[in-house]
Amino acid sequence: MRKKIVAGNWKMNMTPTETKELIAKLKDKCNTDEVDVLFVVPSIDVTTAYECLKGTKIKLGTQNFYFEEKGAYTGEISAKMIIDAGAEYVIIGHSERRGIFKEDDEMINKKLIASHKFGLKPILCCGESLELREKGTYKAFIEGQIKSAFNGIDKNQAVNTVIAYEPIWAIGTGKTATSDEAEEVCKFIRDVIKALYDESVANAIRIQYGGSVNAGNAKEIFSKEDIDGGLVGGASLKEDFINIVHY
Ligand code: PGA
Repeated sequence: MRKKIVAGNWKMNMTPTETKELIAKLKDKCNTDEVDVLFVVPSIDVTTAYECLKGTKIKLGTQNFYFEEKGAYTGEISAKMIIDAGAEYVIIGHSERRGIFKEDDEMINKKLIASHKFGLKPILCCGESLELREKGTYKAFIEGQIKSAFNGIDKNQAVNTVIAYEPIWAIGTGKTATSDEAEEVCKFIRDVIKALYDESVANAIRIQYGGSVNAGNAKEIFSKEDIDGGLVGGASLKEDFINIVHY
């Protein structure tokens, strides 16, 4: 039985001061064992969030890192720094990083390999544009993203990777994929993982849906067989997130 994972992706929102305020509002009601609850905060907020979340079951992640161990990479943050500051998870390959910051499949593959090497738990994002959705070629595109990202990842590492299916047309738009559309792709991703590894890996790996998840649609989406929770953007910054956690 896969444990659901509900992660709030704060994106570039919340100063350290605001982090304290938001966590104070959310933490008691999000402090549950029934699902894995995760706050994925900006790197600069990790230390503050770590202090605020002490004594709770809520897990902490950040949204990006660089794959090298250390060195002359001005402006970048390493896995070791993130772990030392108190976070366990990292998002890799979010469509905003692929689109705005031009991260390609090769970079994302290096980050996935490095996350496992240095002990950060990755949430790997994939998902198609509206154009590919309308053309009908979205599955082949997602298959390509998954195969490329998992190149060089062994079975044990694969099981300990979370995948987030996030159709770009549903992110921040208020236009969610229907639960059937989301399930179709999450099941397809599970089949791709089965072909790359085996049935036991496919059955164990957790696959989230992301894209305009809110308190009104979470229950229907998360109830689908192949959907193991969600990656939540906008609604994770509000008390609505509590209702999503307790969908
Ligand atoms: P959204 O963002 O919930 O605001 O659509 C989801 C995401 O980008 O992770």
